Amino acid sequence: MQLRLLLLIPLLPAALAQTASNETLLWGAYRPNLYFGLRPRIPQSLMTGLMWFGTQDYQSFSKTRHTCEQNELDSYTWTEFDAREGGVQVLKDGLNNVKITTELLKVAGGENGGSWAARIKGEPLRPDAPSRISTIFYLGLEGIGGLEMETDEDDNGIDGPVKFSGNSAQLDDFTVRVVDGPDNEHVTSGPFYDDFKDRVGKTHFVGRPMAPGTIWQAKETILKTIVDFFQSKATTYQAPNYPDPSFLITLPDDVYSNSNLYAVQKTFDGPFQFDVFFESASAKQKLSSATLDQGIPALLEVYNKRFEAALPYPADYPAEKRQSLEAFSKAVTSNLIGGIGYFYGTSLVDRKFSYEWDEDEDAPPVDESEKGAKLTEPKALLTATPSRSFFPRGFYWDEGFHLLHIGQYDNDLSLEILRDWIGLIDENGWVGREQILGEEARSKVPQEFQTQVPNYANPPTLAMAVTAFIERFKAHQAAAGISEQDLGMGMGAAQAALGIELPKDVIDSAHNQHLNSPELAFSFLKSIYVPLKRHYDWFRRTQRGQIKQYGRTARSRTEAYRWRGRSEQHVLTSGMDDYPRGPPHAGELHLDLISWMGFFTRTMKDIATFIDEKDDAAAFSEIEKAIIGNIEDLHWNEEEKMYCDADINEDEESYHVCNKGYLSLFPFLHSLLPADSPHLGAILDLMRDPEHLWSPYGLRSLSASHPEFGKGENYWKGPIWIQMNYLALSALHKTYAAQEGPYQAKAKEIYKELRQNVVNNVVKEYERTGYTWEQYDPLTGEGKRSHPFTGWTSMTALILAEKY
Ligand SMILES: *[C@@H]1O[C@H](CO)[C@@H](O)[C@H](O)[C@H]1NC(C)=O
Repeated sequence: MQLRLLLLIPLLPAALAQTASNETLLWGAYRPNLYFGLRPRIPQSLMTGLMWFGTQDYQSFSKTRHTCEQNELDSYTWTEFDAREGGVQVLKDGLNNVKITTELLKVAGGENGGSWAARIKGEPLRPDAPSRISTIFYLGLEGIGGLEMETDEDDNGIDGPVKFSGNSAQLDDFTVRVVDGPDNEHVTSGPFYDDFKDRVGKTHFVGRPMAPGTIWQAKETILKTIVDFFQSKATTYQAPNYPDPSFLITLPDDVYSNSNLYAVQKTFDGPFQFDVFFESASAKQKLSSATLDQGIPALLEVYNKRFEAALPYPADYPAEKRQSLEAFSKAVTSNLIGGIGYFYGTSLVDRKFSYEWDEDEDAPPVDESEKGAKLTEPKALLTATPSRSFFPRGFYWDEGFHLLHIGQYDNDLSLEILRDWIGLIDENGWVGREQILGEEARSKVPQEFQTQVPNYANPPTLAMAVTAFIERFKAHQAAAGISEQDLGMGMGAAQAALGIELPKDVIDSAHNQHLNSPELAFSFLKSIYVPLKRHYDWFRRTQRGQIKQYGRTARSRTEAYRWRGRSEQHVLTSGMDDYPRGPPHAGELHLDLISWMGFFTRTMKDIATFIDEKDDAAAFSEIEKAIIGNIEDLHWNEEEKMYCDADINEDEESYHVCNKGYLSLFPFLHSLLPADSPHLGAILDLMRDPEHLWSPYGLRSLSASHPEFGKGENYWKGPIWIQMNYLALSALHKTYAAQEGPYQAKAKEIYKELRQNVVNNVVKEYERTGYTWEQYDPLTGEGKRSHPFTGWTSMTALILAEKY
């Protein structure tokens, strides 16, 4: 066994390299709910943010930009972003006539996660109209340590750079400098200029002490100091004869003792630029504007190379579309990665809540004092987010999809995030569906959705991230010329054929260490195996469905599943909230859940095989077979020629609930049907039928002929979801179009058309509206609901590059 031998070789070099690679993830744009907010991956530490408003009038101040909002900016997008190196974001603010660009350059070095430089620049969107922007950059320190302004205070503001110094536990000593660009102009005429000429063109500042855990509310504190300053001066003037807003809407230029929040304000007329430098003392490298002048173009060059290797432009798309499609793919990938946040805090859990149909008759009676939502211990989580404006927090079922995409660009980043999610699995094996950690995250969630219940599940998509990693690892090893025999792991030849060729410098980067090192891959999988298995066992134990109680016959007596926690109208836990189901009943059986469990079991088999847990692998293999058999026995309806949920009628008899839509596809979506299954043809027909699921924009969630199509909330009653289309395309590409069978030709045809439909529509809507959307209209293809939705809709880039 070659692999075992490898593992006896000292692990140090790989482990050290891994620590260094992990250091490059310490700092990030990990406050994705802000237009531009940086923080390290440390629970209590330094947090920064950017705000701006226009001074063309007095009203714009009340619309100060800070947190990402829907319908506020014309667009905002990272055009390029690498979590380890930095990137470029473009924000278009039509109301204030400014295009702001934020550039971030991370500079590795030292022992505390390195340094970074950021450049904020602006230019008018319409050159013939005024563009008068005031920016506020702030920094606040949470936890033990200190933060001071070193530059001498001046009541009229500061000429030249402003410098802060600080220290905190894991960051150690650091400085922050804010430095003007060379060509900034200021408003130097207008009403009452003479009264303010000593202040105009200066950098204004404020420092205030903030209570622990409140830096996230910096905006209110900072803007209040402006309002107070304004009110103290405004009494001198009589409406409507006020000074130009740019003179009067400023920070007060004072610092209170024990301040841990500081803000610096700059007010411009026309194009502007300033830089912020964070220097970690142990990194010893001096940063200057020249670092950014040279660093950003160099960053973009490497980024483009890396991107091209990770998500190459497909040969079957025309050359003339390359520029626009690549720009799209880079933007959606960058926004997904730029949407990664670091969250820390408590969450709300109700351990005793239960609907009547979920009640366990054998359980002891519940003590009243245990009922209701309770705050948990604080937890930390690095996670991608579905939408920076609308859903800036972790969602379990989205995350597995996010990690497929992130892992394609930066494998090790996807593992680092996966590790954090796995860390949330509790001693029973449960993970909350929505991770609303801390007050800042809770402030965005309506109260009725804040509480999580520990017997509620969500589609186990984290398993997809594990499988994808194993496949990428095998492909890399195969591409690097290491045969499966050498590695001593029973890999299928099919995976080796997925081999991809990458330039050497890209392969060797911090992004892919776990793909290059069998030791690291092995130790990573081994480290997640036990908690993942606990999670898997939790699913099998808590979401089990009843078979024999209702005279159902099936070849396995155990493999049947039911989502707990549904209400009359919703099965939120399934992820497909308002998709039509039968009435709630303890005897219900859910087709999607048994299919997810089939997939999860297969993942457990793969990981057990990889880490050489032979007995477990054999046991998983048995369960997988049982699930596949029971899908046929419990869920296939011969009259309807489709797979269905099962429910219990008034006579206590089992019957099928058949609603044509995504649900009906599940055994196919997870490749649980063999390529020669006699039921495959019916599934493909249902997909391809324009009266049902097929549209020129992708597969509809519910058949257009269903009586509930487009009705009610219309969330999962027709609209097109990109991650579900991705699953269908993946099953076609990897299984049904790839393997011989009676429907192979048809699968190929559907694959080709569906891929084009999805890519063309999402790109068309992106170009038309400036955004990617949560879902797409099943009749017109128009983007619908939250936007920018830069979570799983971004997988369109994977579909274009055929990375499944
Ligand atoms: C990577 O760094 C973060 C933040 O310092 C830490 O929480 C995490 O455990 C590290 N991961 C590994 C694998 O060392």
